[in-house]
Amino acid sequence: MEKIIVCNQKMFLTYDEAKVLMNELKDENNENFIVAPNFLNMKLFKDFNLCAQNCHYENAGARTGEVSPYHLSLVGVKYVLLGHSERREVEDDYLINKKVVSATKNSLIPILCIGETYLDNQMHRTSEVLKKQLKIALTSVDKDSIFYVAYEPRWLIGGKNTLTKNEIEDSVKYIKKILTELGFKNNKILYGGSVNKSNIDLILSNNVDGYLLGNASCNIDELKYIINCIKSVK
Ligand code: PGA
Repeated sequence: MEKIIVCNQKMFLTYDEAKVLMNELKDENNENFIVAPNFLNMKLFKDFNLCAQNCHYENAGARTGEVSPYHLSLVGVKYVLLGHSERREVEDDYLINKKVVSATKNSLIPILCIGETYLDNQMHRTSEVLKKQLKIALTSVDKDSIFYVAYEPRWLIGGKNTLTKNEIEDSVKYIKKILTELGFKNNKILYGGSVNKSNIDLILSNNVDGYLLGNASCNIDELKYIINCIKSVK
């Protein structure tokens, strides 16, 4: 199967910058290429597989500044990033769980981001943290639901360094084991956290279903280089 690529554009691009990028990306548009623009730029990417960067858990209501998962599904958004490290600064596992449940009920595919902090890593408690995040986020989620898990070590996001291929494969294997224990089957596992032009060749793995790109997804040359590398191992 062709690998999944998710482009998390975060709050990096103005409308005009996103438009230039979109025009350059038209040839890359396929079912495994997912774009998560900011809400203002979503219309520009309407012909791509759209992913929201966040959503609320309620379908409608007095929630100033929030975006409803129901409304997202009505305008054709297919995916939603939930539990992203940058959201975890203000969201806990229980809130993320409410969002995952609600997103799946609205036929959105959650891309559930999990990952340990630097301190967790230094204290050798990565496995414990990943297990806890998965367990809570997936409570009451229908066992047949489709969702992806993106493993992103929080301390490696937005930098230059990433894990080694072996470290990534070990964590992905562990995540698969936990998902099986929780009764979920066939969910795709992605990896993210400073994946870029200089390290993609070193970390490409048959055991990872795809990659979640942040910074690198906003630079057309870097993104195209990464896409071509990923395509070469399909
Ligand atoms: P990064 O971001 O590639 O810039 O580290 C990845 C992410 O935050 O999803």
